[in-house]
Amino acid sequence: MDDFKAVLVEYSSWFNEKLKDLFPLPQGAEKKVVEAMYYSVSNGGKRLRPFLVAETATLFGIPKEKSFPVAAALECLHSYSLIHDDLPAMDNDDLRRGKPTCHKKFDEATAILAGDGLLTYAFELISSPQASSSTKIRCELVSLLASAAGAFDGMVAGQMLDLYSEQDNASYHLEEIINHIEEMKTGRLIRFACEAGAVLGKADKKLRQALITYSRKIGVAFQIADDILDVEGNPVLVGKALNKDAAQGKLTFVGLYGLDKSKQMAKDLIKEAKQALLPFGNSSKTLQQLADFIINRSC
Ligand code: IPE
Ligand code: IPE
Ligand code: MG
Ligand code: MG
Ligand code: MG
Repeated sequence: MDDFKAVLVEYSSWFNEKLKDLFPLPQGAEKKVVEAMYYSVSNGGKRLRPFLVAETATLFGIPKEKSFPVAAALECLHSYSLIHDDLPAMDNDDLRRGKPTCHKKFDEATAILAGDGLLTYAFELISSPQASSSTKIRCELVSLLASAAGAFDGMVAGQMLDLYSEQDNASYHLEEIINHIEEMKTGRLIRFACEAGAVLGKADKKLRQALITYSRKIGVAFQIADDILDVEGNPVLVGKALNKDAAQGKLTFVGLYGLDKSKQMAKDLIKEAKQALLPFGNSSKTLQQLADFIINRSC
């Protein structure tokens, strides 16, 4: 586990340095929104999604420098989702990554615009020639990212169901709904990360499918771990307010099945995720460690 953490920290330090160049400050009064964007995107995340892009692309011989624009685009989009997720109208959180949330540090209107700015910037980055010299690959990446982030089975759909579940916990089929929420609100961006590596690497169908299976398993396990951290995490390490899900009446794995069963479910998913990597043999060692990290992390 320590091995893996060191590799992740090394990647995230490198990633954070490169990210600075993507946010030159404009001169005019609009610079506030860029400051808010950079504040949120540079603010100490684990960088798991960019790392997944880099690691899956590496399986096909693509160095991390080459996958950086796609990795950065995804992290911008993820950061936008967090800014909006924290807004008073959504989860109403004051703390994110151990610092004031974007609307607390700036103001609500700026936070909304910073989210919009990061979402659009993600598409500017991923459609740029630096993302890939092949227009076909760029188009495919744009389309995959739009679908992963969107309202039709994507992250936005998952967030809508998450909000809806706060209001309607009397509904039947809760088990189906919870799986669907986790697959969409968290799973789709994680799936994009792995599929993007396969697209950049021009993977064949079988290997691409193996990565999709891996990503779907770790995606749900990731959100189960997030729900567990909300209940029994260390607030200093987690860097966000805890015990919020139950207070807000969120439908979560922990709420539905309890801690023990949720932990077992997450463990089973990680086992299945690692099995999906078998076609890659030893070269998938880091991705296997990443799967373990997802359920053993403290933040
Ligand atoms: C938090 O994601 C939001 C969820 C999808 C559960 P992360 O736990 O990856 O947050 P950062 O990017 O490391 O802060
Ligand atoms: C957020 O899920 C998922 C997205 C931002 C898409 P949560 O609401 O559980 O994330 P945290 O706990 O605030 O990080
Ligand atoms: Mg939320
Ligand atoms: Mg939240
Ligand atoms: Mg949460």
